[in-house]
Amino acid sequence: MRHLLSTRSLSRDEAIALLDIAEDMAAVQHREVKKLPTLRGKTVVNLFFEDSTRTRISFEAAAKRLSADVINFSAKGSSVSKGESLKDTAQTLQAMGADGVVIRHPASGAPYTLATSGWIDAGVVNAGDGTHEHPTQALLDAFTMRSRLHGAASRGKGLDGVRVVIVGDILHSRVARSNVWLLSTLGAEVTLVAPPTLVPVDMAGWPASVAFDLDEALATKPDVVMMLRIQAERMHGSFFPNSREYARTWGLDDARFSQLPTTTMVMHPGPMNRGLEISALAADSAQSTVREQVANGVSVRMAALYLLLSGERGELR
Ligand code: CP
Repeated sequence: MRHLLSTRSLSRDEAIALLDIAEDMAAVQHREVKKLPTLRGKTVVNLFFEDSTRTRISFEAAAKRLSADVINFSAKGSSVSKGESLKDTAQTLQAMGADGVVIRHPASGAPYTLATSGWIDAGVVNAGDGTHEHPTQALLDAFTMRSRLHGAASRGKGLDGVRVVIVGDILHSRVARSNVWLLSTLGAEVTLVAPPTLVPVDMAGWPASVAFDLDEALATKPDVVMMLRIQAERMHGSFFPNSREYARTWGLDDARFSQLPTTTMVMHPGPMNRGLEISALAADSAQSTVREQVANGVSVRMAALYLLLSGERGELR
């Protein structure tokens, strides 16, 4: 196997191996010369059919720091607007010599289709598909938790016994799905908190518990509180409960934040709706890992590209 499509199929050993390689990549970020020659001569295509700031830029930075050539493709302004299919778009990029394709797509399963259809030979990395998965986000989240909890002694460790509360729009969140699978594989205990209208109907087999009362969940003094973005664009601009009710009942506002132990990490994958799911006080606090998550994203994506494209790869699925 030579793709990274999901965290669900990653074994604990595979996940820890990737996080350990990301530690090495993080060390490179602190050097004066931040580049490695590892992927010299390889071409990585960033194929983005949905908007992105963090993921697209950090994959570009990751590929460049491994000395790969990078082609950025955005569906906006491309021949996709003339009706060109995913197959023809991908084959056009393959013809330009893509060794790796990083794809974000609004359709759940699009990266899997690209990886298994035989349309292209390149390794495929899922950079977020519909409401399905966002594996590198979960890996950078796990990396961030591990770094804060274990510091320089992180290598080889999972997240055994770490209590993580994930709050918000679970229904539309590929970040939540990828985190549920990865964090449980690494030994964490995951609780999902959301309004009943934003919880998937069928969660059979999800290794997580579900709660509806945020104050009760926070009173358990979790190690990590991960706030999710309300994805209004997937709800056609409106959602129930409305924003004021949502902020009051499920938002990490100043009052809730001040009740948390000072050791509780506050995470958010970004982009944030400040004042809705998270207050500025919480987002900008010393407990917030928001900027660390972004920085760690480059190291984790360097590790993923290295494993998939360098020929040194393990068995990532
Ligand atoms: N967290 C995340 O995926 O952010 P972007 O949509 O900006 O890539």
